[in-house]
Amino acid sequence: MRIVVSFDAEGMGAAAAADVAGLVARQPGLVLGMAAGRTPVGLYRALAARAAAGLDFSGVFLFGLDEYVGLPPEHPARFRRAVESNLAGLRTAGGLWPEVRPGADIPAACAGFETAIAARGGIDLQILGIGANGHIGFNEPGSSLGGRTRLVRLSSATRAANRSAFGSIEEVPEAAITQGIGTILAAKRIVLLADGAAKAAAVAAAVEGPLSASVPASALQLHPDATLYLDEAAAADLSRLADYKAEENLRRRLGCRLG
Ligand code: GLP
Repeated sequence: MRIVVSFDAEGMGAAAAADVAGLVARQPGLVLGMAAGRTPVGLYRALAARAAAGLDFSGVFLFGLDEYVGLPPEHPARFRRAVESNLAGLRTAGGLWPEVRPGADIPAACAGFETAIAARGGIDLQILGIGANGHIGFNEPGSSLGGRTRLVRLSSATRAANRSAFGSIEEVPEAAITQGIGTILAAKRIVLLADGAAKAAAVAAAVEGPLSASVPASALQLHPDATLYLDEAAAADLSRLADYKAEENLRRRLGCRLG
């Protein structure tokens, strides 16, 4: 895994945005996987700023990483809505989130989402956050490392962590649809962002711990092109931090870049 450590969360978002924007410039028809949550907000705002400054996203197609089940379309906590609002009107070729209408055949909708990804040639770059328990998307500990898009029950810890977007914990949906870890690993490139001390243990377990369904993000160890953008606080528990920093300096000196 490539590890890029920035001083703070703002630097983390800017470093990721520089690499993602470079990729969009080189590959205008990019298929981009979008995580919701607090962590990638700086990245999305920076991408919107680059679009306002002239970077063309009109050929970029978005796929959502996960979505709650049962929220009305106008609900502000819907992941699709949250991501789109952070992109501030950035014009793309469109997007598809793993959403279901009430009464829909959920397994068929999940299979249809996978088919839609395949029809676009797969996801070129999947953006991820990480839960404090090591989850990616809504793949909680214990999820199959080969799983595909499916319905999941949200743990009470995850519902509590995501509560701030809702009035009360009772309003947080009990179910979601998420890309599976197998879906995520099929992306050609993966970018995971993490900031803050609350994520440090999960980051260390994902990077340096054993590959395990108990830490879903450790599955990224299997991916040939995964980059972690961290701030110092989220990187603090990495035992080989000095080596990762030296490696990244070497990459930069030799001119290696994302993609
Ligand atoms: C949520 C989402 C994930 C997100 C993660 C971290 O539950 N399902 O997609 O990456 O938890 O969220 P945050 O960035 O707000 O800490």
